[in-house]
Amino acid sequence: MSGCDRGPKSPRGFRLPEGDAVKGQQAFIALKCYTCHKVEGVELPAPTAFSLTLGGESGRVKTYGELVTSVINPSHVLSEKYQKELTDTKESPMPTFNHVMTVEQMIDLVAFLQPRYKLVLPDYQYLGP
Ligand code: HEC
Repeated sequence: MSGCDRGPKSPRGFRLPEGDAVKGQQAFIALKCYTCHKVEGVELPAPTAFSLTLGGESGRVKTYGELVTSVINPSHVLSEKYQKELTDTKESPMPTFNHVMTVEQMIDLVAFLQPRYKLVLPDYQYLGP
């Protein structure tokens, strides 16, 4: 595990409440995520800008924390493929939605996307009775 797993910025203990995957799919369409993304196993309008499939085993996202981070902070980890194409910028071509996306939409989007990935949930330590 990396050094980021300890200290005050550690993702330990982070967990969103249960979301609604159906509403998540609606948010995915309302926020126009589909213009750049297909989603493994889901019928959506055809992408127009990029065509990056979310989910499956080939995704870069491997943990729950990474999935949430990719939605609210897309430039935090750029996929290698895009890093090569975007040599003069460290910004993701994916815009941030933080000023328009509600917290509820974010939670629902994660509920919608999570089952499409093979994700690892964050650990928590059981300190005993
Ligand atoms: C303008 C195009 C565009 C839009 C709109 C967009 N994305 Fe992205 N998204 C990208 C690109 C390009 C990447 C890969 C580059 C990167 O790592 O940021 C990406 C990466 C991701 C990833 C990580 C993919 C992986 O498996 O590694 C997730 C999850 C994601 N987007 C979700 C969303 C959601 C949810 C929305 C709508 C709220 C959205 N995206 C809207 C372009 C877009």
